[in-house]
Amino acid sequence: MTRSLTMDKPDARNRLDAMAQGVIGKPLDRPDGPAKVTGTAPYAAEYQVEGCLEGVLVTATITKGEVTSIDEASVLSMPGVIAVFSDERMTARSAQGGAGEAPVQQVRQVAYWGQPIALVVAETFEQAREAAKQLRVEYRAQSDAVLEPHSSHAPVETSGEPTIQGDLEHAMSEAAFAVDVTYTTECHNSAPMEPHASIAQWDGTKLTLHSSLQMVNYNVKELADALKLEEDQVHILSPYVGGGFGSKLGISAEGVAASVAAIELGRPVRAVMLRQQVFQCVMRRSETTQRLRLAADGEGRLSGFGHEARVSNLPEEEFAEPVLQASEFLYAGQNRRLKLELARVNLMTAGSVRAPGEAVGMQVLESAMDELANAIGMDPVELRLRNIPERHPSKDIPYSSRKLAECLQDGAQRFGWNGADRAPCRTREGEWWIGTGMASAARVHNLNEAQARVTLCADGTAIVASDMTDIGTGTYTVLGQIAGEMLGLDPKDVLVRLGDSSFPPGAGSGGSWGAASTGSAVFEACEALRERLAQMLGCAEEDLSLKDGFAITGNTRTALPDLLGGSEIEEVGHFKSGEIEDAFSAAMYGAFFTEVAVNAWTGETRVRRMSGTFGIGRVLNEKTAASQCMGGMVWGIGSALSEEVVFDRRDGHLVNPDLAEYHIPVSLDVPHIDVTFIEERDPAGSPLQAKGVGELGICGAAGAICNAVYNACGVRVRSFPMTPDKLLAELPDPLG
Ligand code: MOS
Repeated sequence: MTRSLTMDKPDARNRLDAMAQGVIGKPLDRPDGPAKVTGTAPYAAEYQVEGCLEGVLVTATITKGEVTSIDEASVLSMPGVIAVFSDERMTARSAQGGAGEAPVQQVRQVAYWGQPIALVVAETFEQAREAAKQLRVEYRAQSDAVLEPHSSHAPVETSGEPTIQGDLEHAMSEAAFAVDVTYTTECHNSAPMEPHASIAQWDGTKLTLHSSLQMVNYNVKELADALKLEEDQVHILSPYVGGGFGSKLGISAEGVAASVAAIELGRPVRAVMLRQQVFQCVMRRSETTQRLRLAADGEGRLSGFGHEARVSNLPEEEFAEPVLQASEFLYAGQNRRLKLELARVNLMTAGSVRAPGEAVGMQVLESAMDELANAIGMDPVELRLRNIPERHPSKDIPYSSRKLAECLQDGAQRFGWNGADRAPCRTREGEWWIGTGMASAARVHNLNEAQARVTLCADGTAIVASDMTDIGTGTYTVLGQIAGEMLGLDPKDVLVRLGDSSFPPGAGSGGSWGAASTGSAVFEACEALRERLAQMLGCAEEDLSLKDGFAITGNTRTALPDLLGGSEIEEVGHFKSGEIEDAFSAAMYGAFFTEVAVNAWTGETRVRRMSGTFGIGRVLNEKTAASQCMGGMVWGIGSALSEEVVFDRRDGHLVNPDLAEYHIPVSLDVPHIDVTFIEERDPAGSPLQAKGVGELGICGAAGAICNAVYNACGVRVRSFPMTPDKLLAELPDPLG
């Protein structure tokens, strides 16, 4: 049976608090942890498949133009080489935030340097790689490629409806204090540890794909569409995913190519992207140019708020990095102007990467807010507290639960924040300038449709099944906790099975919606199971308590296996977000505090302390949630100081397509990070009173670091990442 819930209004029942098991929120370990750390959890490329061939992608070496010929014969005579596939299905450049789209089929046209154009298949990986290197491809290159997204040469269009309210120019000219500043951020790569990888098998009628993906049921649709198959001919398995960060939302090129090859050759084919290919042919985060205009009165109350941004993407791609997302609702200011422009460039597809929108939007907004606080001479915490609006400033709808003020106050106290004297260059330790900075965190709360099946087995244990994925986020853990809480079971007695498209379609992992959405489907299924157990006992569901494998009502206490009498019961929960989405402005909030040291001679910045206090609705697992936030803050450090995909502006090729040259923070770059959660229930967030958490930790984090750098040495870097060269040019005399 399927039980559906469409969330049209807040669910204030707070059912999870009323349950007896007491496992929700507990920092339980991951059930998948031991298999992962001992190397026994199979990732997509690791399945042992009899007779499997190896495929290696070939990518374009021009920036714009077309492929005129591919000399397949030249490699087909090489040892072990079986075939070269180079038709239009080889590319999947459109796989981005809008999962469900078919890959754009135009491989003969090259839109960016590094675009997949062929797959070479051989008996061994080494043979395939060598042949892929040797494959001669001829192109007709066009010379009008646009490679400079920040310049004015790119064709530009408006993306979405701008928010224009009141008169910002007037507010700016009348303001006691105003800042008008423009920041830039550069391209980021999602950089998952596990490269994109697939093994395709075709049995004559059905395709089985082991792959590393975030959104399995959408990926089935995409793959079926690309291959002209029926959806029920496609079976995708993605039980373990070594990080996705957006780049595995859509089906990617190696999965489509391996499938084409497996179908045509009648043999299994494995294709794994080389590390360089993970950088050059999956989605990137757009670089951004963002102008912030903030107008405030003498008390720091915002009267005007402007955020205008330019982002970029390939011609014809719809995705525009939504950098204004949090600016729409976070702060007051009745005269508003928010506008997003999309420039067309010939760089690889821009799409969702680690908190699309707020990651770089909040980073810049929070830096600009610090500039305003400095201009006023006000504690930046106080400036934010004074500008928390009563209602959504342009939609005039209420907020759902919002703990921004609590996070700011709690975070300041835990950190030992001194907001009284914010003049820069006050502290020097040897050759290091020391400074502190803070920022708010905000990320919209998203929900996505989800189904999950929960089986209460005859032995009193339970099985949760959904095609939902766990991309390192803790999904296995929290879904087990939700079912355990609702059914009165130790989560050890709940087996969670994920990432198999034959299971009911879950929400997938994206937009921080995974736990709240698929968790709500599990919750619904469990509600239905509880009703069935109550019926079996002849009591009302409200009078049923489930704990430690026993069903308790009145004076009777029955072990679940006895109650079930040798049979199992099963329910599917189907969760959908409804009118609630338009009725409230729902988001997760927080506050970052950090201390940095800037080398007075070299401009090197070290983050010395960092803490975050967050309000995410109900915390489903303190440990996995804190880990998500910590990871987000590490991304923040990267975004602030080091992460930048560098393109050669002559031909658009990637200069740093690997983990040696693309600088993700490593252990020695990351200080101890403190994460605190504010107790919160958000009845409009989900039936669990939980909201998202996955991406919140990055949203603003780099702004706190930017502000701390200014506080340390008096240099305001408006160009991220704040590499030493940018600081060096403006640092005060180290001997002065
Ligand atoms: Mo996320 S960047 O929506 O996977």
